[in-house]
Order: sequence, then C-alpha cells, then structure tokens
Amino acid sequence: PVRKAVFPVAGLGTRLLPATKAMPKEMLTLVDRPLIQHVVEEAKQAGIEEFIFVTSSGKTLIEDHFDRDHQLLATLEARGKKELVQLALDTEIPLGKLLVTRQHTPLGLGHAVWCARDIVGNEPFAVILPDEIVLHSIGCLSQLMNVYQEQGGNVVALMDVPRAMIKNYGAIAGESVGGNTLSITQMVEKPDPAEAPSTMSITGRYILQPQIFDHLAKNKKGAGGEIQLTDAMQELLEEQKFSGVLFDGKRYDCGHKLGFIEANIAFALDRNDMRGDVIGLLETYLKQAKP
Ligand code: UTP
Repeated sequence: PVRKAVFPVAGLGTRLLPATKAMPKEMLTLVDRPLIQHVVEEAKQAGIEEFIFVTSSGKTLIEDHFDRDHQLLATLEARGKKELVQLALDTEIPLGKLLVTRQHTPLGLGHAVWCARDIVGNEPFAVILPDEIVLHSIGCLSQLMNVYQEQGGNVVALMDVPRAMIKNYGAIAGESVGGNTLSITQMVEKPDPAEAPSTMSITGRYILQPQIFDHLAKNKKGAGGEIQLTDAMQELLEEQKFSGVLFDGKRYDCGHKLGFIEANIAFALDRNDMRGDVIGLLETYLKQAKP
C-alpha cells in the first residue's frame, strides 16, 4: 500500500509575486481553503496516512494550518458555533502523521523530493504538487491508486495539452494498455514543442517506487538548470515500469495569475452553496466589462 505522500512546498512562487513575498503560495485561498488543504484532502481521500511537507524558511504557516488552534476552538465553542468548530477540526492532520523536512535552496522539484528520502524510507510513496488542483468528485490521486493496484510499478497523471504548451511541462511517449491507461516509454522535461514525443503532459500527481531516490541522489541539473523529477523518472524507466493515467477531471494550474483566477471561478461555480450568487456576480461584471 501507498501510505505516505510528499508535498513539495519549498518553491519561491515568483510568478505570483508580490502575493507570495511573505505568504507561501500554497497558503493562497482557493474559494475558502488554502491550496495545500485541497491537496491534503485529496490525499486523505486516496487513503494516505502520513503527510510529508518539504518546506523552506518562511513557510511555517503551512504546518500551523494543520495543527490544533486551541484559542480558536475555545472561542468558537464559547459562541456555540458548532459547525465552525467542526470545520477547524477537519483541517487537522492526526498527531505524529505530519512530518516536515527542509529544502535549504530551491534547486528544483527533483531535489525537493530527494529531501524527503529518509522520511519516506524504502516504500512506494505519492508526490502531490499543491499548485495543481484537479476538480473531480474522485480525486486524481485516488484514480492513480486504482491503476497502481492493477499495474504496480510507478504511476503518473497525464493530461493532453495544446502542442505549443508542452514546453511548460514534462512530456511522455507511451502506448495504450486499455481504458485511460498508457504504458510509458519515454519522458522528457520541458521539450521544444516541435520535438516533443507527444502532447501528453505529466501533471502534479505521482506514485513512485523508492528507487527514484538513487537517481535523484545524482543531483543532475536539467531543464532550467534545476534538478528535475522527470529526468530521474526517465532513468528509472530503464529499470522499472511506468504507467500514465489520463485522469477524469480538469486540472487547474494555480501557479500563475490567470490560472489561479480561473480555478477560483471554477471551484466557486462547483459549490452548490455558492453557484447562484457567483453566476449573479459574473453576469453583473460581464455586462460592465469592456474588452
Ligand atoms: P514550481 O515549478 O511552480 O515553482 O514548483 P515555484 O518556485 O513554486 O514557482 P515559480 O515558478 O517561481 O512561480 C512546483 C511545486 O514544487 C515546489 C513548489 O513549492 C511547488 O509546490 N518546489 C519547486 C519545491 O518545493 N522546491 C523547488 O526547488 C522547486
């Protein structure tokens, strides 16, 4: 079983400056909860028991968010706000199940994952990127888990993107093995669109075998001068099986401004308690807006 998930949250979030100057990107609000809570809930739904955050200086708010706030609870209880008490309790990660390690310098996603090697140990684990949020009733990681139960090995989430966009992602080559699953034969990070092996991009959900750490330990720099997870996966592909899952649901890239705004609109429209009011607001603004 996959019991542990790594959440790399040590990046600088420069595309969302100045919002991310003092506030971790992962704490920015998507409708009414921080991005990181959305992905922790997705991991809980998928059966994850241990939550490993790879943080950096200035990111302690993230672990505080999942801790118990005694003063808040006492105040809400005194005011008889039972629903809000429950809401606060639901954010908590059980005692001993939240683990934190640090990445001193943002050397890349691969390096961030490698920083969690001793906490993960010798077992398969999940990696979830908190700035990529998938809207679907069955969480993206749960969908990967279903394929992992059948296929074993390593599993990554895939999404088809316009060819011009593939330069922003890891791209794969693969063959269909039925349903929405592919057997991956090649992976390349941020390819030139003309040379990309396909338009299927690796999105921020992975189930990996611990041997990935042997490849990450080489600290090889790849695209953008960063230590890339995709490069280590390409090396591991020579020894182990990788499956790709064209997941159900829409992925929102909350790491840049427009994607973040789009995600907020989509997630608010998905909420039964908000949809009507949000549509009303949007209609008002659309009537006034001049392109
Ligand atoms: P991004 O590629 O979005 O980088 O990282 P970033 O630094 O957060 O943002 P920009 O590009 O400067 O705007 C994807 C995920 O990987 C983490 C980030 O925190 C984010 O959750 N990450 C990235 C690390 O933990 N360490 C790194 O060295 C790089």
